[in-house]
Amino acid sequence: MWKFLNGTNKKEVNDVSVKIDMNNIPVHIAIIMDGNGRWAKQKNLPRTLGHKAGVETLKKIVRECSDIGVKYLTVYAFSTENWKRPKDEVSGLMKLLVEYLKNELNELNENNVIIRTIGNIYKLPKPCIDILNESIEDTKNNSGLVLNLALNYGGRYEILRAVKNIFNDYEKGLISDEDMRNLDDNKFEEYLYTKGIPDPDVIIRPSGEQRLSNFLLWQCAYSEFWYSNINWPDFSINDLHKAISDYQNRDRRFGGVNNGENK
Ligand code: FPP
Repeated sequence: MWKFLNGTNKKEVNDVSVKIDMNNIPVHIAIIMDGNGRWAKQKNLPRTLGHKAGVETLKKIVRECSDIGVKYLTVYAFSTENWKRPKDEVSGLMKLLVEYLKNELNELNENNVIIRTIGNIYKLPKPCIDILNESIEDTKNNSGLVLNLALNYGGRYEILRAVKNIFNDYEKGLISDEDMRNLDDNKFEEYLYTKGIPDPDVIIRPSGEQRLSNFLLWQCAYSEFWYSNINWPDFSINDLHKAISDYQNRDRRFGGVNNGENK
């Protein structure tokens, strides 16, 4: 059970009404943390306060995923397109990232969480790169939930980067002509940021939007999508349970047919 070092809303934990099957917990959940701006606007607050509230939701969802045995949680924290936002908002998001890791690192470590990233973090401001590298190093020997932060991440960029790196390795003679001709999914995936991580079982997008926005384009081939109208700052543990429960009732065939219908 997660150790509550920082004040956690225990009432909310007790208010969870949607039951989930603990024997069928998704291995990998991915979340597009959308609706922070709208949440702030509805309250006449600056957008940055919406993101700040979004971080509070992230903290509780990380705790819950860890508690129920999710192995990978990938969250879309900053996309390759988010640089187009006003400068203040971008710098506010970068500050929140640094604060989050500074404040939470002990607790994440206590709870065995492993921090990883996808995306080109080396284009982020230096304080972000430093704290990310420190957090990755500090948590790399933990054995619990992998919290995978998508930062300066874009699915198209990731795929193009993989193609370029495969070609570079081919030119260097690290990939043979024959391996190049036989290039398959497994080999290609070794060149993605998500190397070694199973594809997401379920992708959650709150806030009423029903699109992927350049998130995990390769990896989503057989993911189950789950949408809700709730803005991310209001997303509760119960909403997470609803998403998991719906996922548990989906019929995943991966392009095949149901068991027993194979003949
Ligand atoms: C989308 O909401 C959200 C983002 C672009 C950023 C998400 C970031 C956080 C929740 C906090 C930072 C992350 C970490 C890991 C500390 P939006 O702004 O597009 O909302 P809107 O569509 O309502 O305007």
